[in-house]
Amino acid sequence: MKPLKMGNIEAKVPVIQGGMGIGISLGGLAGAVALEGGIGIISAAQIGYREPDFDTDTKAANLRAIKKEYEKARNIAPEGVIGFNLMVAMRHYEDYVRAAVEAGADLIVSGAGLPTDLPGIVGDAQVKLAPIVSTEKSAKVILKYWDKKYKRIPDLLVIEGPLAGGHLGFAREKLEKFEEPAAYAGEVKRILAVVRDYEKLYGKKIPTALGGGIDTPEAVRDAFSLGADAVQAATRFVTTEECDADIRYKESYIKARKEDIIIVKSPVGMPGRAINNEMIRRVAAGEKIPHSPCHRCLHQCNPAQIPYCITDALIHAAKGEVEDALLFCGANAYKADKIETVKEVIDDLKKLL
Ligand SMILES: Cc1cc2nc3c(=O)[nH]c(=O)nc-3n(C[C@H](O)[C@H](O)[C@H](O)COP(=O)(O)O)c2cc1C
Repeated sequence: MKPLKMGNIEAKVPVIQGGMGIGISLGGLAGAVALEGGIGIISAAQIGYREPDFDTDTKAANLRAIKKEYEKARNIAPEGVIGFNLMVAMRHYEDYVRAAVEAGADLIVSGAGLPTDLPGIVGDAQVKLAPIVSTEKSAKVILKYWDKKYKRIPDLLVIEGPLAGGHLGFAREKLEKFEEPAAYAGEVKRILAVVRDYEKLYGKKIPTALGGGIDTPEAVRDAFSLGADAVQAATRFVTTEECDADIRYKESYIKARKEDIIIVKSPVGMPGRAINNEMIRRVAAGEKIPHSPCHRCLHQCNPAQIPYCITDALIHAAKGEVEDALLFCGANAYKADKIETVKEVIDDLKKLL
């Protein structure tokens, strides 16, 4: 097993725990993964949802919680690699990035849009930067833009495939086309070819992590044989003792059958993968679900038009109010049949490396 190296930072186990918002991967899960030698990622999406002023001053609550959750993870894994996942689509993205850097993050993983301006936001800070791409086209755009504007390459490129959870980086038609594993393997190879061009240009390795449906030692081995240097796994970590979500959310994965996992259109129009439940059925039947005062989370959202509020629905999920929730999950969530520890998951994933 080769460690994952990003400049002066090294993770003994080349497994990144993908960021999961809202409130699914916080300091507890990220710290536990980092302690086992992997990379623990805290999701910054509405991270302050448990702060008393979340409804009245969402930004201040989120900024405070970024620091708290980082400290929690750092106390669990003083020597571990700990980062944040920040979605470009979030309002106040720049402020949250700066807060993550100030807190001490080793790494920022950023997707849900292309993080074109991320190098400019962090400036000279030593933090490592990892954009998420899903297609050859997005890889080309981000690498070219960072090269031209910042003379910089990513410290890690996360390649997220069609079997991932949460919002997906594909239009619906592309998603169907790529769900056939061989079809996406071709796209991964094309993305890696783009990466190799920039490695040559800079005379420096750009490590890559492949994610989306990677939940067994065999899948990890396959990702490495495709040419990745690490994997990013998320779903498999939801059903761990250390995952920060309510037990009822974890149980919804254990109860789910394959046919319960569906593609939904999130209120902002992006496709996402989730477990079918009462709330999704109500929305599909045309119901408009009343929401709490708007927390102004995403740029593209128009609160007057949406069928439900994504912040409300994801907070319900983290709190275990599972019938009123958007239960984001990866395509393989139905395979979970018990609660494990993070150590058990990591030991299993790295078994064939
Ligand atoms: C519950 C859940 C929430 C997620 N939330 C986010 C998020 O806030 N930002 C993000 O970039 N990716 C998010 N993802 C994607 C993961 O970080 C990860 O890349 C992907 O799910 C990997 O596939 P896997 O879940 O099959 O292992 C989420 C995934 C899940 C399952």
